[in-house]
Amino acid sequence: MQTIIHLSKSSSPVVSCFILLFCLFQPLCLCPCLPSPVSPLTAECAPGRFGADCQHSCECENGGQCDRQTGQCTCLPGWIGDKCQTGCALGLFGAGCEEHCDCAHGAPCHHITGACWCPGGWRGPRCERACLPGTYGENCAQRCSCPHGTSCNHVTGECGCPPGFTGNGCERTCLPGTYGHNCNQVCQCSGANQLCHPVTGACSCAPGYHGKDCQLECPEGWYGPNCEQQCQCLNGGVCQTTTGSCGCPPGYIGADCNTTCPAGRYGQDCARVAFCGNRGKCDPVTGSCVCAAGWKGEHCEEGCEQGRFGEGCLQVCDCRNGGLCDTLSGVCTCALGWSGPHCEAACPVGKYGANCQHDCLCQNNGTCDRVTGSCQCQPGYYGHVCEHACPPGYYGDRCQQTCDCRHGASCHPVTGHCLCPRGYHGDLCEKVCDQGWFGDSCQQACDCEGDSPCDPVSGQCLCPPGKTGAKCDIDCRANRFGPNCTEACECRNSGQCNPRSGHCTCLHGWIGLACQEGGPPQPPHHSPRIRREHRARLETSV
Ligand SMILES: *[C@@H]1O[C@H](CO)[C@@H](O)[C@H](O)[C@H]1NC(C)=O
Ligand SMILES: *[C@@H]1O[C@H](CO)[C@@H](O)[C@H](O)[C@H]1NC(C)=O
Ligand SMILES: *[C@@H]1O[C@H](CO)[C@@H](O)[C@H](O)[C@H]1NC(C)=O
Repeated sequence: MQTIIHLSKSSSPVVSCFILLFCLFQPLCLCPCLPSPVSPLTAECAPGRFGADCQHSCECENGGQCDRQTGQCTCLPGWIGDKCQTGCALGLFGAGCEEHCDCAHGAPCHHITGACWCPGGWRGPRCERACLPGTYGENCAQRCSCPHGTSCNHVTGECGCPPGFTGNGCERTCLPGTYGHNCNQVCQCSGANQLCHPVTGACSCAPGYHGKDCQLECPEGWYGPNCEQQCQCLNGGVCQTTTGSCGCPPGYIGADCNTTCPAGRYGQDCARVAFCGNRGKCDPVTGSCVCAAGWKGEHCEEGCEQGRFGEGCLQVCDCRNGGLCDTLSGVCTCALGWSGPHCEAACPVGKYGANCQHDCLCQNNGTCDRVTGSCQCQPGYYGHVCEHACPPGYYGDRCQQTCDCRHGASCHPVTGHCLCPRGYHGDLCEKVCDQGWFGDSCQQACDCEGDSPCDPVSGQCLCPPGKTGAKCDIDCRANRFGPNCTEACECRNSGQCNPRSGHCTCLHGWIGLACQEGGPPQPPHHSPRIRREHRARLETSV
């Protein structure tokens, strides 16, 4: 462990140098005392020098110390001035000359030690005692030379006391009721509150009394000789008529009774102690607690009862609908779902919770519970925030009802009205579109020539036999017949095909369903087939 050597200003530079040199000549010595950037030999100036390189000489006198940096003087007790050149003024002594001499008979004291300089005739540490009988003068060093039995003035050494004084050293005034030379005159002051001058015997009123016979006490507010001084007591303090000192009432102290008892104390001389909790203050006079707002009880230990607040819990809260009241300020904390200074307002639509500060999230006109914010969905919707419409096939409050629709139709999630597919209508979608109509709710009219019906879903025209085309307005072309002209005619030999029925009308002697038989009259030559048949008939008959 390192030894920290602190080189204070007061340590002698010789010692410092010794320690430093000691460190410098010890190869293993740790020198924590050396602040690294400062040369060891300039760490302290020699006595009487100052400045960065100790280049200045101090100007402090009378043992004053000068600052290492600035040269400013720090004086020894008994001296003041920027160079400590001045001794304390008469009657003062000590550091900064701030102490007052404590010597009797106005004696001065030593400006450094405060020891009293006694004037001639006085002795004791405070010069409070007269010289012993038989001695007098400076330091009581003189011996009296008065005839035996004659007193000697302790100050001057004169034999026999001056009028009004007595004692072996003439150090005392005459006893009350006597005055004059050797105190052998009897005072003629008759009143009980009168004083007699020890020298002249003149009568005067004692402090606190006045009047011809000094029978009257000073009037209230006045004191002293002839009641000429005005009392200075405040706050109902009672003034002593003789000295003017104040007798303070309970709760006040101080010479003029203008200091109230410190916190927690009360009564006569602030001697009693009171305990007032929760920042309550104690009445300095009675000691009763004056509680802070929000508290009550003898020691302010109780909070205000519910419904009251403020100083003394005297004010009545106005927090409605279950709102809580701050016992200090009366400010309301509202129950969920209420707001306003008195919690008088229910949350407006779309708001909920504490102070109605949250936004409701319900969709599709769902209503929001102003306390919890939970959503109540309109019929046809469900989900935490009513975000879903009822699934196909269901409707109504909480989607509990099933659609009653035919042909697999779904229904409106709110009303339950059937939503018919194309081609159907009726309350339950039970009916196909009437002829001539098609599409959504059968609201579209077919657009077909004549009275041709159309497909109830697509509206495509269903053409009668012999007609075709998008509107059935086109006749079948040759060789076609039937509804929408879908069939092929079979008429041969230029037979004409009926476009509606497909019947053939034969020409030139042709007959048969397809005009395939007969034919026009034959020329002389048999036709090859007939000749062949004829030859065969001849051959079999041979
Ligand atoms: C008494 O004390 C009060 C409060 O400290 C002060 O304002 C007032 O000046 C004092 N009065 C006298 C006469 O000192
Ligand atoms: C919500 O209510 C308003 C007014 O009543 C209405 O116009 C709107 O269509 C409703 N919206 C829904 C999704 O029900
Ligand atoms: C009628 O015939 C036309 C042309 O061949 C065809 O495009 C159409 O789909 C047919 N209509 C029906 C109802 O079969």
